[in-house]
Amino acid sequence: MNSFGIFRKEPVLVVGGGLVTDVAGFACAAYRRNTNFIRIPTTVIGLIDASVSIKVAVNYGNYKNRLGAYHAPQHTFLDFGFLRTLPKAQIRNGFAELIKISTCAHLRTFELLEKYCDQLIDTGFGRTDGSSKEVREAADEINRAGIHEMLKLETPNLHEIGLDRVIAYGHTWSPMHELVPEVPFRHGHAISIDMAYSATLANMRGILSDAEHKRILSLFSRAGLSMDNDQFDEDLLDKATKAILRTRDGKLRAAVPSPLGRCVFLNDVSLQEMHAALRKHKELMQGYPRHGAGIAAFVDASDTGYTMNKKPSEATNHANGHNGVNGASKAIIKDDVAEGVFNGGPVHDGQGTSNPSVATEHASGPEGVDGSTKAETKNGATSEVNGHVSNGF
Ligand SMILES: NC(=O)c1ccc[n+]([C@@H]2O[C@H](COP(=O)([O-])OP(=O)(O)OC[C@H]3O[C@@H](n4cnc5c(N)ncnc54)[C@H](O)[C@@H]3O)[C@@H](O)[C@H]2O)c1
Ligand SMILES: [Zn+2]
Repeated sequence: MNSFGIFRKEPVLVVGGGLVTDVAGFACAAYRRNTNFIRIPTTVIGLIDASVSIKVAVNYGNYKNRLGAYHAPQHTFLDFGFLRTLPKAQIRNGFAELIKISTCAHLRTFELLEKYCDQLIDTGFGRTDGSSKEVREAADEINRAGIHEMLKLETPNLHEIGLDRVIAYGHTWSPMHELVPEVPFRHGHAISIDMAYSATLANMRGILSDAEHKRILSLFSRAGLSMDNDQFDEDLLDKATKAILRTRDGKLRAAVPSPLGRCVFLNDVSLQEMHAALRKHKELMQGYPRHGAGIAAFVDASDTGYTMNKKPSEATNHANGHNGVNGASKAIIKDDVAEGVFNGGPVHDGQGTSNPSVATEHASGPEGVDGSTKAETKNGATSEVNGHVSNGF
């Protein structure tokens, strides 16, 4: 930024997905304490989520969003024409956040997502060549409403002091689950599993009708978003509940749709009730295509951007004898407040260093991530998912 001769008052123009607007936004927050910037998001997540908030953050030491700021841009310009070239898996990923906001806050938008689901995903929200005016207009209405609802909900809560957040639907158990598989879930898929399960929980409580419950599950299914996963089990629910209670001041505050298009927060869900809902949810999944599994549900090199000679770095690392998949993916997508929170701190600051097996494994894994997580599991302590806490949305 020095060599560009940037003046504090002169805005930096930032064009890219959520990752780019976050990293460059944080650079602007830090550079001379406060440098203006203008955002032009180019992905669905960027357009309807990341660029709506004033948060900017970067990963640090393998921890997601460890360094960040609340730093509003001078302007954000939205041009959905960028979606013309965005890969389908990324479109689907962003679609999940639109299901989130509409299911809990805007019925009309949910209805439009239902009506145009397949076309929206196939045509990049009506932006690819040959897509119809009707789909494009529906997309514009959906995106405008989604952004508007989020602004209405979050503008009075810019610094996230209020913890009962409608936009936390799907973000109660998912922050931990997202990072559990060897190759982590795409964010949209992780929150979809949480949302689908939360809808089943609400249905079992009798606060979401059978018909509405079915509509929600059908939409996820049609969109190719995940609704279940083997590792979304009782153990995960228990641990993720403990973790989220810490960030939500001791209350669960689980946002669930009730009725469709509105939202309530549940604080009094016992583990028994969660487990019963999980059993029912898994049973229901048997009746859905792919048994509720999503399409292109996991992070790949198109997310990480790590390629060598245009080949995903996962493959390259494998060839070199490293545990490439973890190295390429997990090292980048570690959650905000990562493992070890239950034990009083990050693994390599606390428990990890005093434990020889952790230290050894640390040395063997790329940047220590792979090693530390495996060691914890081996020690029978708390497993890798231990203590992941949501950092937001
Ligand atoms: N600040 C916030 O409030 C907030 C909210 C949500 C997400 N985020 C952050 O955003 C990031 C995820 O953002 P994302 O989903 O936009 O992914 P991304 O920025 O990683 O982009 C995904 C992929 O799409 C490519 N891409 C971007 N625009 C494209 C286009 N128009 N055509 C073709 N390819 C394109 C990118 O190069 C990348 O490979 C995460 O780091 C997350 O933490 C921040
Ligand atoms: Zn989210």
